Amino acid sequence: MTMSTNPMDLSGKIALVTGAGRGIGLAIAETLARAGADIAVAEFHTDTGQAAVAHIEALGRRAAFFETDVRTSASVEAMTAAVVAHFGHIDILVNNAGIVKNIAAEESSDDDWLNTINVNLNGVFWCCRAVGQHMLARGSGVIVNIASMSGIIVNKPQPQAAYNVSKAGVIMMTKSLAAEWSGRGIRVNAVSPGYIGTELTKVGLSKAEWSSVWLENTPQGRIGEPADVANAVWYLASDAASFATGSNLVIDGGYTAW
Ligand SMILES: NC(=O)c1ccc[n+]([C@@H]2O[C@H](COP(=O)([O-])OP(=O)(O)OC[C@H]3O[C@@H](n4cnc5c(N)ncnc54)[C@H](O)[C@@H]3O)[C@@H](O)[C@H]2O)c1
Repeated sequence: MTMSTNPMDLSGKIALVTGAGRGIGLAIAETLARAGADIAVAEFHTDTGQAAVAHIEALGRRAAFFETDVRTSASVEAMTAAVVAHFGHIDILVNNAGIVKNIAAEESSDDDWLNTINVNLNGVFWCCRAVGQHMLARGSGVIVNIASMSGIIVNKPQPQAAYNVSKAGVIMMTKSLAAEWSGRGIRVNAVSPGYIGTELTKVGLSKAEWSSVWLENTPQGRIGEPADVANAVWYLASDAASFATGSNLVIDGGYTAW
């Protein structure tokens, strides 16, 4: 076999992407597949998860769907074991599954707070721990966590305290695990998107009083595409980023520069 000299070539790699059924996760799965990786689709919804698999297979790569709820460690551990049984090992983990609820802090119920933290923060940790154990045993692996610019700034005008806190936690989790695992062959980095056009931002984009503020505060004056985020993930997941660990790559059209 001829080895590629392109450090961003992912041929022969196995990539596990959570929340890969739609939006940014689907774009990440597609981008990594185009770069040569086979894809494990870990998704809460069966219909979109299976559609994502068909989409990846049409690109000529292997793919399989693993029904997963990242909120529970038991589901994540079962998924991780099933992915290893199916593909043999995992080279790349992308923690992408996430939710947002726009609600005032003083009106948030216990469930509002806990559900956001369980998906966005605890879910990332359960996946890092389960897949990290597998990667540590192999002595190699790459993890990319999808955080958000909301882990650095407070969005306006919409309230979303639990989301912002969860994403700040993901950025610090990324640094902490990078520090613990760097000497053992594992890199851990984050990508922090600004506003990207997906189902998650659909309601906000349809409200002129929100979307006008979003666009005014974005130096590029546009909403990003899922591919803008996926390309950053591709870089961090590849050997081109071999000296990058504990970093947070912000892809926000300049929002956090102002
Ligand atoms: N869209 C944006 O503007 C934006 C900005 C910054 C960060 N992000 C982050 O990017 C990631 C993807 O967001 P998106 O915009 O593509 O959202 P999306 O709602 O379009 O997709 C999220 C996916 O995660 C899956 N998911 C949700 N809960 C899950 C669970 N418990 N277990 C497994 N899968 C689950 C959903 O089924 C869905 O397929 C999220 O972490 C989000 O916080 C998005």
